[in-house]
Amino acid sequence: MRVLVVGDVVGKPGRQVLARELGRIVEEYNVDFVIANGENAAGGNGITRSVAEEMFDSGVDVITMGNHVWDKKELVDYIETEPRIIRPANYPPGTPGRGFGIFEVKDGESLAVINLAGRVFMEQLDCPFRCVKEILRQTINSTVNTIVDFHAETTSEKGAMGYWLDGQVSAVCGTHTHVQTADAKILPKGTAFITDLGMTGPANSVLGIDPDLIVEKFVSHMPVRFQLAKGPSQFNGAVIEINSVNGLSCSIESINLPIEV
Ligand SMILES: [Fe+2]
Ligand SMILES: [Fe+2]
Repeated sequence: MRVLVVGDVVGKPGRQVLARELGRIVEEYNVDFVIANGENAAGGNGITRSVAEEMFDSGVDVITMGNHVWDKKELVDYIETEPRIIRPANYPPGTPGRGFGIFEVKDGESLAVINLAGRVFMEQLDCPFRCVKEILRQTINSTVNTIVDFHAETTSEKGAMGYWLDGQVSAVCGTHTHVQTADAKILPKGTAFITDLGMTGPANSVLGIDPDLIVEKFVSHMPVRFQLAKGPSQFNGAVIEINSVNGLSCSIESINLPIEV
């Protein structure tokens, strides 16, 4: 099976890219299933029901989240009713929603999607390394195909997760930094890996935000109200080809497309 994993979708510009371009990309890359990180999909922070529905209508099959998961309060109730939205699994026990799900792809094939959050320079959640092994114990009897969205800040924590899961999952894809890394590869035991998928949203920006505002913040150290950048957009993600007999990956190709407004 071929799975497209899309880097953090930022605000309306990111959603417009999905609405206009996802169908074409799915066709061009012969994709069977689409996972997109939606933690910044609603105005840059969090996600709402209407925004999630818009992403599903554009062709996204599963939405993963990250540290911005609770920025829009309505998700606390909505997430309980929508199994296609996955939040980091290593939040404390009792947190609303699900940290993983198993989804039908095609011809009886299924895929587990797991979302984890890193801890270096981030909130101190439960250990993502132990957490994911516990989840795999639960999913392994249902499917061998597994994609992990590891939402983390540092390249080292994400690289370590790749090797921790090498040979046990189909792919480990990093998200959160909004900057695509040039290291998409198949690890020695057959797991596809990329440190960060990048961002789908405003191209001339700092992580999706108007660069003038970010510069002002760094230079002045005064409070600045962030706004999404205007102008052309970009589509970032990766296509992973999984051998669904053993759940290991044959290839990973990163995608970085400029999108005209
Ligand atoms: Fe993000
Ligand atoms: Fe994030």
